[in-house]
Amino acid sequence: MGRFDDLALAWDSEPKRVEGAMIFVDKVKATLQQDIKHFKLLDYGCGSGLVSFGFAGDVENIDGLDNSSGMIDVYNKKAKDIGLKNISGKLHNINNEDLKSNTYNLIVTNMTMHHINSPFDFVSKLTKSLKNGGHIFIADLYLEDGTFHGDNDGVVHFGFDIDTVKEAFFKAGLENIKIEKLHSISKVPKNYDVFIASGTKL
Ligand SMILES: C[S@@+](CC[C@H](N)C(=O)[O-])C[C@H]1O[C@@H](n2cnc3c(N)ncnc32)[C@H](O)[C@@H]1O
Repeated sequence: MGRFDDLALAWDSEPKRVEGAMIFVDKVKATLQQDIKHFKLLDYGCGSGLVSFGFAGDVENIDGLDNSSGMIDVYNKKAKDIGLKNISGKLHNINNEDLKSNTYNLIVTNMTMHHINSPFDFVSKLTKSLKNGGHIFIADLYLEDGTFHGDNDGVVHFGFDIDTVKEAFFKAGLENIKIEKLHSISKVPKNYDVFIASGTKL
């Protein structure tokens, strides 16, 4: 059992996580400002689906990918319980697997990149998986001092320097790159800022 398998069943019971995911979903929708009902969406590092389920009524179908079987079980059980047939979670590890190319109109990933080995490979693989004209949105922590997680097991990056994120988007060939502060997560005694980075594959 990995870190996220242990956390899966109780993942949705932390209000700050739910709130952060909803802020991300709302910002993506507000930024796109277009009809997304025919979109194929990938939620990478989907966890229990906090982000995916925020798009369930808006897009054609959603693939949730995650390397925690505990999270994928929770994700698929929620979809089944709600009766959603257009959402499906599957096991996938981006560190050593590729993604289907030219498949998605929209890729979203919330608070996952700091657990992935290389932000450059991550953004590059996600971009290859986008259709031309597709959009990618990544939310994650700005550089932090290593105190965000009580336990840093499985934490590969203590947040990100914005120039690194910009370079990863640029090297992947994305256009219209934009990075801005999305929200702040307050934990005693500190706040941790979260950015949202977006780009388009032209
Ligand atoms: C902090 S959680 C975020 C979950 C979800 N996006 C949310 O907003 O609630 C990070 C997720 O990334 C997944 N993850 C970590 N490393 C991964 C990898 N190498 N490949 C795929 N998923 C990974 C974890 O299993 C976990 O579900």
